Amino acid sequence: MSPAEPTLNPLARELNQKLESDAPEVLAMLSPLGRRLYFPKGILSQSAEAKERGKRFNATIGIATEGGSPMYLPSMLRSLEGISASDAFNYAPPAGRPDLRERWAEKLVEENPALRGKKFGTPIVTNAITHGLAVVGDLFVGEGDRILLPDKLWGNYRLTYEVRLGAKIATYPFYAGGGFHVEAFSNALREQAAGREKLLVLLNFPNNPTGYMPTPSEGEAITRALLAQAEKGTKLVVLLDDAYFGLFYHLGGKSMTESLFGLLANRHPNLLAIKLDGATKELFVWGLRCGFVTFGPGRAESASAACAVLDAKARGAIRGAISNSPQLSQTLVSRALASSSIDAERKAKCEILRARAEKVFEVANAPRFGESFEVYPFNSGYFMCVRVKGVDAEKLRVHLLDAHETGLISTSATDIRIAFSCLEVEQIEPLFETLHRGIQELQGR
Ligand SMILES: Cc1ncc(COP(=O)(O)O)c(C=O)c1O
Repeated sequence: MSPAEPTLNPLARELNQKLESDAPEVLAMLSPLGRRLYFPKGILSQSAEAKERGKRFNATIGIATEGGSPMYLPSMLRSLEGISASDAFNYAPPAGRPDLRERWAEKLVEENPALRGKKFGTPIVTNAITHGLAVVGDLFVGEGDRILLPDKLWGNYRLTYEVRLGAKIATYPFYAGGGFHVEAFSNALREQAAGREKLLVLLNFPNNPTGYMPTPSEGEAITRALLAQAEKGTKLVVLLDDAYFGLFYHLGGKSMTESLFGLLANRHPNLLAIKLDGATKELFVWGLRCGFVTFGPGRAESASAACAVLDAKARGAIRGAISNSPQLSQTLVSRALASSSIDAERKAKCEILRARAEKVFEVANAPRFGESFEVYPFNSGYFMCVRVKGVDAEKLRVHLLDAHETGLISTSATDIRIAFSCLEVEQIEPLFETLHRGIQELQGR
C-alpha cells in the first residue's frame, strides 16, 4: 500500500507522507492497521481549541461541570485526600497527562545513562504495559508477521500477538550455560530475517519467567547482532518490555542495570526501538494500570518528526479502543514521581526483594536438591525457574497443591516458576524443601 492509498483517511495519508519523507523505514514497518491509524480532528481537538479560545462559553466538553470544575459526588471524593475533582475524575488526554509524560521521560534519562543525548519520543501513557503491547501491536503487527522471542516467555504475548493479531512467534533457546544464549539469538535473528522485509524482536529483561537480566557484555552482543541485521537491510521493530526494570540483584555476577532501549535508539534507520514499561511493577501499583510506550527511532535527525507521527497513530489506537487511561492513576503516579522521597522508598522495597532473591539463590542451589531440580540462572526481578528432574512439571504443580497446599506455576513440561516476590524470607527454605519433597514423592523415592 503506498502512502497515497486512496481509501485512507486524509489525516492518515498525511501522517504516512510525513513518514515517507522523514523516516521511510518506519513507514515500511507499519502494519495495515498502523497505516490506517490517525488521530481524528473530532471532538477532542475541537474541545482543545475551545479551551484555548472559547473564553465566553465553552459548551464542548463531554463531561458535566459545576462551578468550573467537574461535577462529582461527595461520596466519591471523600476518600481522596488532597486531590481535586479535576485531577481525580476528569478525562485525561489520550496520550496521558503532560506532567506525567514529562516526569517519566526524565526518569528514563536518569536511570538509563546510554539514553543521554539521544532523541526519543515523549512516553505515551497506556492502561499499563499489557495495553502498551497491544497499542504497539496495532501499529506494527499484522497478520502473518513474525516475532522473535526466547523459549522462556511471558505467555500473554501469545494472546496479544498471535491470537489477537495473527502474528507467529518463533523462539530460540534462552540459556547457554550460565547466561543468555547470545549465539542462539543471533542465529535465530538471521534465520527469521531471511526472506522477510520486516521482523519484530521482543526482549523482556529482567525476564518473566526466568528473572534473568543480561550481563553488560551480553547486552552489547545483543545490540551488535541487531545492528548487523539492520545493516543487512531488515526492518527491525525491537520491543523492549522492561516491566521489572530496576530490580537488579547481581546474583552470581554483575548484570546490566539499564535498558537496551538506550543502546538501540538512534543507531540505525532500519531499527526502531520501542520501550514498554510502567508504574505497575516499578512503583508497586499493579492495579492502577499505568504504563508507557516510548519510541526510539533509528535516525536521530528526523526522530522528532517520526515520533510526532507515531504519537498521533498511537493516540488513534488508544482513542479507538479505550479512549484514554484513568486520570486518578496518572495523578497518583505523577505526584509520586515528583516526591523527594520516592527514590529512597523504591530502594527500600528493592532491598526487601533483594534479600529474598539472595536467600533463594543460596537455598535453591544447595547440593541436596540436585537430584530433584536444576536452577536456571537468575539475578533480577520477581521470579526464578527450575528444571525439574524425572517428573512432569504440570503433574508436580497439581501434586504440590493437592498434597502440600503449595502453589507454583508450571511454564512447560519441565519448568516450574517460583515468584519469590511474594514470599517472606523465612518461607523460602521451607518452600524449596516442599518442592524437593514433592518431586521425590512423584519420582517414587
Ligand atoms: C513481562 C511482562 N510484561 C508485561 C506485564 C504486564 O504488566 P502490566 O500489569 O503493566 O500490564 C507483565 C505482568 O505480568 C510481565 O510479566
